[in-house]
Amino acid sequence: MNTSGPDAASSRPNDGSMPLVVVTGGGSGIGAATAQALREAGFRALVLDIAPPPAAAADTLVWPDPVDVTDAKAMPDVVRAIEERHGPVYGLVNAAGILGRMHPPERLRQAHWDRELDVDMRGSWLACRHFGAGMTARGRGAIVNVASVVGMSSGPVHGYGPAKAAVINMTSNLAAEWGPYGVRVNAVSPGFTRTPALEMGIDNGALDAEALRGCTPLGRLVEPIEVGRVIAWLIGDGAAAVSGINLPVDGGFMAGVFWQAYGGLRGPGEPGQV
Ligand code: NAI
Repeated sequence: MNTSGPDAASSRPNDGSMPLVVVTGGGSGIGAATAQALREAGFRALVLDIAPPPAAAADTLVWPDPVDVTDAKAMPDVVRAIEERHGPVYGLVNAAGILGRMHPPERLRQAHWDRELDVDMRGSWLACRHFGAGMTARGRGAIVNVASVVGMSSGPVHGYGPAKAAVINMTSNLAAEWGPYGVRVNAVSPGFTRTPALEMGIDNGALDAEALRGCTPLGRLVEPIEVGRVIAWLIGDGAAAVSGINLPVDGGFMAGVFWQAYGGLRGPGEPGQV
């Protein structure tokens, strides 16, 4: 158990090297932006993806082999190989994910529901479990799971929503389990974030960008780098006393969405505004 005060679990190794943070799903969207934010914050970022990007920023490490985070058999070997080549992993960001199909329950294919839970819930669990083992043994580490505002509310995404709710629950369970070993575990819940996956949903008509902006107090979609910078803060020592939380990064969406029932958000210059 870690009983030696705040410095014991610091991200900075004693030899002065830059701590290594693995970002699953780091090939695109929120994961790619998180790798950038981690570099800005002084970490070495290593991208792990089922589709490794052919070219990443010069100072980002990319694990060259495709890794499917749902592959329970492969994951321990992947962790071992990464640590042999790059040294101990201090941090983990679980950004690998697939967005949910929006079909009614009776039309949602079971195979799609299964895959959403497999990648979004089980994949996060497997990465936490296998990277977390080394962190607890070393007595230092930080994990951030990417959940979603949908995991805190309801929506027509019958596989994705429960998977993200499970990620939030898993986060607090692991925080309680591993805090005594110097490992912090947190989640972020992005609101609608302008990534390739989301833009595809807008382009094919599944999502309405105007409606999304309309129920977001900041009046816009979230940018991936804005999520990435919050994640980098949670990984870093600025958040050394933060564990077990689920932090929305949503432009105020969770605060504003209920206002739809009262006719929607007000704007500057409208009646009732000062
Ligand atoms: P994206 O599609 O741009 O990036 C996801 C990345 O994960 C891709 O590089 C993909 O190759 C990788 N990936 C997918 N399945 C994988 C697997 N089995 N193993 C390893 N890598 C895999 O998506 P985006 O939007 O950046 O999403 C990232 C995370 O953020 C997901 O967990 C998503 O659910 C979550 N999120 C996204 C929101 C949004 O509005 N874009 C809102 C809330 C949460």
